[in-house]
Amino acid sequence: MEKKVTLEDIVSLAKRRGFVYPSSEIYGGLSGVYDYGPLGVKLKHNIQNLWWNSFVSAWDDMYPTDSAILGPEKVFEASGHLAGFKDPMVVCSNCHSQFRADHVEGDKCPHCGKTATLGEPRQFNMMLQTQLGAVEGEGQTAYLRPETAQGIFTNFKNVLDSFSPDIPFGIAQIGKSFRNEISPRDFLFRMREMEMMEIEYFVHPDKWEEAFEEWRVGIKTFFGKVGLPEKMVHEHEIEEAERAHYSKRTIDFEFDYPFGQKELMGLAYRGDYDLSNHQKVAGKSMEYQPKDGSQPFIPHVVEPSFGLDRLVLAVLVASYATDEQGGEKRVFLKLPAEIAPVKVAVFPLLKNKPELVKKAREVYEMQKKELGAVMWDDNGNIGKRYRRQDEIGTPYCVTVDFDSLQNDDVTVRDRDSTLQERVKISDLLEKLQ
Ligand code: GAP
Repeated sequence: MEKKVTLEDIVSLAKRRGFVYPSSEIYGGLSGVYDYGPLGVKLKHNIQNLWWNSFVSAWDDMYPTDSAILGPEKVFEASGHLAGFKDPMVVCSNCHSQFRADHVEGDKCPHCGKTATLGEPRQFNMMLQTQLGAVEGEGQTAYLRPETAQGIFTNFKNVLDSFSPDIPFGIAQIGKSFRNEISPRDFLFRMREMEMMEIEYFVHPDKWEEAFEEWRVGIKTFFGKVGLPEKMVHEHEIEEAERAHYSKRTIDFEFDYPFGQKELMGLAYRGDYDLSNHQKVAGKSMEYQPKDGSQPFIPHVVEPSFGLDRLVLAVLVASYATDEQGGEKRVFLKLPAEIAPVKVAVFPLLKNKPELVKKAREVYEMQKKELGAVMWDDNGNIGKRYRRQDEIGTPYCVTVDFDSLQNDDVTVRDRDSTLQERVKISDLLEKLQ
């Protein structure tokens, strides 16, 4: 029987195998900030690429942008973030630690453990502010964006002018966002620096419900592609009082993380909230003029917003598996091949036999040229190499042994079943593809 994965299992594997490291760790780290290591970068890029191929490349009416992280105050005044992007905060009267009010149960401080007066919650703005310019007191206040979405809205007119798209159409963007979370926690789940993959899909005001339903289906299909089992994903209709300040309807897609069923991403209907406010504050028209000459209007927006780090964490949790092989416990990641950081590992059976190494090197170069994400591994014995590759989710291991020299074939081992078969080198690429 498989044991339930814990967050500690994931954090430990991520660190050990080079997926995710605590940021600035040699200086004690920075709370809510993480760095991706070599394999984490590859996994993240593969997930990003799958998202891009599913929602940008595959669509005729999708326009990507890559807007700046820094924005002037006016943008966030218009977006409502300066006034409304707040979380309720309480402070422990004993140790002065700060917490999000809804993260504290009872009157015990989660940090010092003592019964404390936590006081009335006060509203804490999560925007990260900075000053631009060299002269103290004369600089310009700017903000690190809390969502990529505002860069899409502020470029809405530019995209209209450059491409004259027919409505409906979308603008898509991947990039970093920043939130001064009161209590960052749960590894990649609640961070202060995070990456988002967002789409603002502009529709006629009468057509938003149709679009909303289409996105709902599209999101679920995408989760299947990254290997999230249907039974681990749950839709949660958010009540009006709980919705973000801009939203008229939101469905959160929640995932069974080891610390509970929590929001993985959100699908929101933002109406014309953002474009109308930018029109007001910037004094620039945000209207769309239909090509048939009918009345111009401000489009409404359906927004699927994916947190990439939460998705990476969900993928690691969903793929984490254990079993027993030859009386020993094995940990492996059942990653879909498309997002696995390494697709194939190639080994010579022994590293001190030049003829084996030469042959294995030829096999490696051949596969690398075609498949890209191929790893050479000759460290330790074969058992150790298998275990290492299993832990990073490599779907296939290819071993070149003494028979290979005679028969021009290799052993191909399947990660999940651990079954091995002999495959002719000339057929190997087709088999792996
Ligand atoms: N533009 C819409 C928006 O910003 P949100 O629900 O606040 O909506 C979207 O954030 C997604 O970003 C969330 O569903 C989650 O995946 C991710 N996210 C939000 N805050 C996060 C945090 N502190 N750490 C990691 N991911 C976060």
